[in-house]
Amino acid sequence: MAEELTLQAEHAASEAESLDDLRQVRSRFLGKKGVLSQRLKELGSLEPEQRKIQGQLVHQQKKAIEQIFISREDELKLSLYQKRLDQERIDVTLKGRYIAPGALHPLETTVRIVLGVLQRMGFEVEEGPEVEDAFHNFDALNFPPDHPAKEMQDTFFLAEPFKDKFGAPSLLRTHTSPVQIRAMEDRDPPLKIVAPGKVYRCDADVTHSPMFHQIEGFWVDKHVTFRDLKGILTELIKGVFGESIPVRFRPSFFPFTEPSAEVDMGWQNGWLEVLGCGMIHPNVLRAVDIDPNVYQGFAFGLGVERFAMLRYGIPDIRLFYESDVRFLRQLQDPLIR
Ligand code: DAH
Repeated sequence: MAEELTLQAEHAASEAESLDDLRQVRSRFLGKKGVLSQRLKELGSLEPEQRKIQGQLVHQQKKAIEQIFISREDELKLSLYQKRLDQERIDVTLKGRYIAPGALHPLETTVRIVLGVLQRMGFEVEEGPEVEDAFHNFDALNFPPDHPAKEMQDTFFLAEPFKDKFGAPSLLRTHTSPVQIRAMEDRDPPLKIVAPGKVYRCDADVTHSPMFHQIEGFWVDKHVTFRDLKGILTELIKGVFGESIPVRFRPSFFPFTEPSAEVDMGWQNGWLEVLGCGMIHPNVLRAVDIDPNVYQGFAFGLGVERFAMLRYGIPDIRLFYESDVRFLRQLQDPLIR
């Protein structure tokens, strides 16, 4: 009968097909309320002589049955492992999937080229908010109160919840020039800053997008002259488009600069306007409490899309925003990262 229990355990263990099953079966034999515990308890009622003999037998039996469950557990584990190996087999001969490497957008590349040239001449990069108030976008920049740029047709004004602290409607900045005001409010000169970013105007055709990018630059110090402006902007254009490109300065008008100029570069037997600039107007310096009798400076602003269209020969501004990989791939610049 002792042998029989071992045979039963062997049979039950071999029937168990999972580790859970096996655990249950095991506790039927070896658990606290299992058959063997029962047997051990029953020994108490035997004569001492008998108890010794029977006790040894039950213990041997227990050992044997424990061993049965250990072996079966190993067996089950091995077969489960084998099953996983079969199911999760990796075909190492399969070709890998191609993951296309990303690249910078041509507008970002253009920004980095321009910033690079200016950083080498000592300009620091700074950014300003895209949601502006009329003070920073217009008034501090010496726009007269009735300037047409403030009209609804040109500027995106924001609805009620975004009104600024003066109660004037907040707006999406129409240019990067407000960064000049914010930098000068924050810190005293000397300031030599370049500020790239998005700007917004109600305008859309092949050369105009309601959102586009500008780069603003300015240098304010005690001895900054128009000569510095000419030198630095000439270097900038040659640095971006090539040393041999002719550059010329033409008188122009902006409310925030006096005198003001437009810069043209030679292009296909003619001239093409590429940026606006000028000496910062004394009223702009006064608006930020800088004494125009002590400090002066120049400023300039350029359109990134326009630079990129010229650099890459792109006819339609909307191509920049369509995310068409076939277009973008043609413009990858391997040298700029
Ligand atoms: N803010 C001007 C625009 O959006 C560009 C510009 C012109 C910026 C002359 C300047 C400047 O700083 O001096 O058209």
